[in-house]
Amino acid sequence: MSERQSPDLADIGKVLVVIPTYNESENIQWIIDRTRAAVPSAHILVADDNSPDGTGDIADAIAERDGNVAVLHRKGKEGLGAAYVAGFRWGLERGYDVLVEMDADGSHQPEQLPLLLAALRDADLAIGSRWVRGGTVVNWPLRRNLLSRCANLYAGTALRVKVKDITAGFRAFRRRTLEGIDLGGVTSQGYCFQIDLTRRAAARGFRIVEVPIEFVERERGHSKMSGAIIREAMSKVTAWGIARWLGRSR
Ligand code: GDD
Ligand code: MN
Repeated sequence: MSERQSPDLADIGKVLVVIPTYNESENIQWIIDRTRAAVPSAHILVADDNSPDGTGDIADAIAERDGNVAVLHRKGKEGLGAAYVAGFRWGLERGYDVLVEMDADGSHQPEQLPLLLAALRDADLAIGSRWVRGGTVVNWPLRRNLLSRCANLYAGTALRVKVKDITAGFRAFRRRTLEGIDLGGVTSQGYCFQIDLTRRAAARGFRIVEVPIEFVERERGHSKMSGAIIREAMSKVTAWGIARWLGRSR
């Protein structure tokens, strides 16, 4: 992979942006182009769950042409959490200093990635946040807005974690953070994966900062949010909250 560095972010170290994909054929080229332009020194790993729409093949063709891009092909749809865990392991094994989570659909704007990376100078985990001052959401239906606010309120209260956007999926981790939170013990599949990693990082005393971002609802393709994902988050957060309350929190 090429060694071109963005001079202003050179001190951050080697950055790997992990992009999980399931049926993102209409978005994948666009999001990779934007990421390459925004942070030319960063490497990208597409973690594709054997998307029926051929996203993995498109990503392979991009990786052929661009040495900064790689593809992790997974056997089938196992959820966002499992794809990230596999992507992080891939990056940790290859010596990356910073591992980034970013959606493929444009909701997380690659142009805001430098803000997240710069925030890591004083943090172990930087979260791109919709719900801090300056953070915004564009084009989200009212029901998603309410769902996110309620999920944050419930998880924040049950887990006593002082993070305003605990479900946020645009994040940058220092490698020591991922090495310190027992990734092998993470079984969350859906978006409660984000809550799980946040509570683990907080419990281990890692410094978490929230950076305001503008989250833009996707224009192409479909969200994978489902009732099963909401139920998983509800039951896991409740169980973690009770365990914490009983003093058995890990
Ligand atoms: N490999 C893989 N496997 N990728 C997946 C899977 C899966 O099972 N499910 C979703 N993805 C990918 C999508 O292709 C996309 O790149 C990204 O994960 C986010 O999925 P969306 O379906 O677009 O998520 P969303 O917009 O509903 O939810 C966003 O907001 C949530 C909080 O409100 C995401 O940023 C979530 O991470 C976040 O928790
Ligand atoms: Mn989305």
